[in-house]
Amino acid sequence: MGDVQRVGIVGFGLMGSGIAQVCAQAGYDTLVRDVEQRFLDKGFDRVDGSLARLVKGGKLTEGDARTARGRMRGTTSLAEFADRDLVIEAVVEKIEAKQEVYDELDRVCGPGTIFTSNTSSLAIVEMAARTKRPDRFAGLHFFNPAPVMPLVEIVRALTTSEETIETLRRFVGSLGKTGVVCKDTPGFIVNRLMVPYLLSAIRALEQGVASAEEIDQAVKLGLRHPMGPFELLDYTGLDINLHVSEIFFDEFKDPNIAPPALLRRMVLAGRLGAKTGRGFYEYDEKGQRKAST
Ligand code: CAA
Repeated sequence: MGDVQRVGIVGFGLMGSGIAQVCAQAGYDTLVRDVEQRFLDKGFDRVDGSLARLVKGGKLTEGDARTARGRMRGTTSLAEFADRDLVIEAVVEKIEAKQEVYDELDRVCGPGTIFTSNTSSLAIVEMAARTKRPDRFAGLHFFNPAPVMPLVEIVRALTTSEETIETLRRFVGSLGKTGVVCKDTPGFIVNRLMVPYLLSAIRALEQGVASAEEIDQAVKLGLRHPMGPFELLDYTGLDINLHVSEIFFDEFKDPNIAPPALLRRMVLAGRLGAKTGRGFYEYDEKGQRKAST
């Protein structure tokens, strides 16, 4: 299992709950924290649903699912993170919110605890530099759905030590995932390539090249992607994609990655994708795409 034994996950939303589940399945003692009990309950419901899917698909036995679930514990207090070897933060993509978490963790955790962020858009070094452990701080970027997606980007900030990178390589391997080490630059590897592609798809739609369905079908059949760009935008959330593209544009000042007008307007309209029932397609209350769209 490597040198990490006790893992702490801060933020038990979509990504935090998926990451926590992966850690628990790999045998780690997994403590999760969210700010209110109702968010913990919702996260555990999501974990139970995901474990049940893995059992149904024959990828996990019922016994192993129960054992994994038994390794997870929820709290609303970061004070309980004192004994954690590794913390993975997956709170909202706002630097102030993340810094608040790290300020408290830095007080609570011993000097050996490694801090990581699952951010997909913020600079790792900005968070690392504020702590007393900038060398034991890195990015650990999982992909949605975390229990299924095999990649984790291990992000090396300017301050990250080689020892930390090596510990994280071993940790990611122990999760049964493949780790790829990359620099702390906007979008790391995957989003750096994916965001311009998704924005191009929206521009193609705006320019009337084809309908969303036709573009999705073309990409799935012509490139063998599991989802087309509009399905993926709806799946990951239009608000998240807008936020990431704004950060990209801020950094690169390239008009090709400026957020398209349609994306901004859909977010303003509250059409954020599957989670709000409507994005480029329509969804039922379980997040399943409606047949007619
Ligand atoms: N937990 C457990 N199992 C899950 C799951 C979850 N959350 N989601 C899907 N699965 C399982 C299903 O149960 C199914 O299992 P079986 O094969 O045993 O039936 C299997 O995965 C395939 O799922 P589906 O049959 O429902 O549908 P699918 O074949 O289309 O797969 C998918 C679903 C894995 C999500 C696939 O469509 C896919 O890979 N899509 C692309 C996802 C992607 O690109 N993610 C990256 C987003 S970008 C990101 O995350 C980074 C960022 O910073 C924004």
